[in-house]
Amino acid sequence: MVKTVYIYTFGCQMNVHDSEKMLGVLQKEGYSQTDNLHQADLIIFNTCSIRQKAEQKFYSELGRIKPYKKKRPEIRIAVAGCIAQHEGKNIFKRAPHVDFIFGPQNIHKLKELAAGKTVPVAIEDNPDIAIRDLPVKRKGSIKAWVTIMYGCNNFCSYCIVPFTRGRERSRPSENIYSEVKELAGKGYREITLLGQNVNSYNSDIDFPGLLRKLNRVGGIERIRFVTSHPRDLSDGLIHAVSGLSKVCEHIHLPMQSGSNNILRLMKRGYTYDDYTHKISSLREKVPGISITSDIITGFPGETEDDHLLTIKALKEIEFDGIFAFKFSPRPGTKAAGMKGHLRDDMKSKRLSEILEVQDDITTKKNKSLEGTTQEILVEGESETDKEKLTGRTRTNKIVNIPKIDIVKGKLINVEIIRGRQHSLEGRPVEK
Ligand code: 5AD
Ligand code: SF4
Repeated sequence: MVKTVYIYTFGCQMNVHDSEKMLGVLQKEGYSQTDNLHQADLIIFNTCSIRQKAEQKFYSELGRIKPYKKKRPEIRIAVAGCIAQHEGKNIFKRAPHVDFIFGPQNIHKLKELAAGKTVPVAIEDNPDIAIRDLPVKRKGSIKAWVTIMYGCNNFCSYCIVPFTRGRERSRPSENIYSEVKELAGKGYREITLLGQNVNSYNSDIDFPGLLRKLNRVGGIERIRFVTSHPRDLSDGLIHAVSGLSKVCEHIHLPMQSGSNNILRLMKRGYTYDDYTHKISSLREKVPGISITSDIITGFPGETEDDHLLTIKALKEIEFDGIFAFKFSPRPGTKAAGMKGHLRDDMKSKRLSEILEVQDDITTKKNKSLEGTTQEILVEGESETDKEKLTGRTRTNKIVNIPKIDIVKGKLINVEIIRGRQHSLEGRPVEK
């Protein structure tokens, strides 16, 4: 009989892709995916612990399914991802309706765990993670995530990731190359290389070398990567982005703060000047590149002056977009134990000031594209408006166009007729 699995995914792209790996493993065991929670034989929560809010969301969802388990005691409930890794068997105390727990380094054990054939907690370090590839059941058919490295060695003082995902481990380039070739054969057109800090990819070749190797795969039209660490962004990488035809003109380069004091407390390993030098070099060598960033507001000890330096930085740099977050103390990290924690209302105030400044910049940048011609990869119907098709520019901006006879997965040229804050509107033009 076919068994069904329902997966809740919280958090980053890494988790979204880990869920695809879980589905890959389970499909081999005869499971199919359902989007109806009530029909599932197995429910997996793939959790995120980057900020407290993400954790709270998970615990409230976990509480909500308690009555299902009472009604149908045969359903199995699993907790995966970063909270599973951090909390381990403590989760059973808090939620006795959970059947098993496994961390991001133990997805390969899902087969045994789901069958109830092993101890119900798998959170040990897995040094083989980069050489032991798992089957993947991908959600889309045009764009695919491809993991190139696991873990992070940086220990930025606020961040829980090095504790949940372990040390950096790079996949051999041949394994990545074969996966990308296979994806091209299946009709995928775009790949996004995933790693916590892709610039420190280091196996038989380095990251620019990997980009050169993947740029040769026929059928793949676009290559993206996330996330880059400003300290490790090398001239070699800038050269690769500028010279390789398939590598898209977009970089996500988390700045976190515009104040050198705060950057030091965060243990980021660069100053604001170092950061802006890299931005200048990127913009000089890769004309038209779009640059996005992450900002944390209200880090412990952040003064009004530090905050104003971040606002000044946003105005000077003019990012194409940012993700901004209120600092959230994470148990076990250095920053959680630092002096000078700010009140939540202060963090909120600073966050809204930052977003307000950036919103104007983003809109201005998008408006400046009106009248230009951009290449987009058609991804299908827009989720918000079924009358429109949607795609992204090489610079990763969303463009909506009227619905016409265009097949999904095609590259087309569009003229941008309107730039808005979150997306662009376009119309197809001849190549
Ligand atoms: N509090 C707030 N934001 C955080 N991030 C990471 N850890 C924290 C934290 N403790 C943000 C950083 C990072 C992004 C993925 O999440 O900006 O770049
Ligand atoms: Fe966290 Fe810093 Fe590693 Fe990014 S580079 S995952 S912020 S420790």
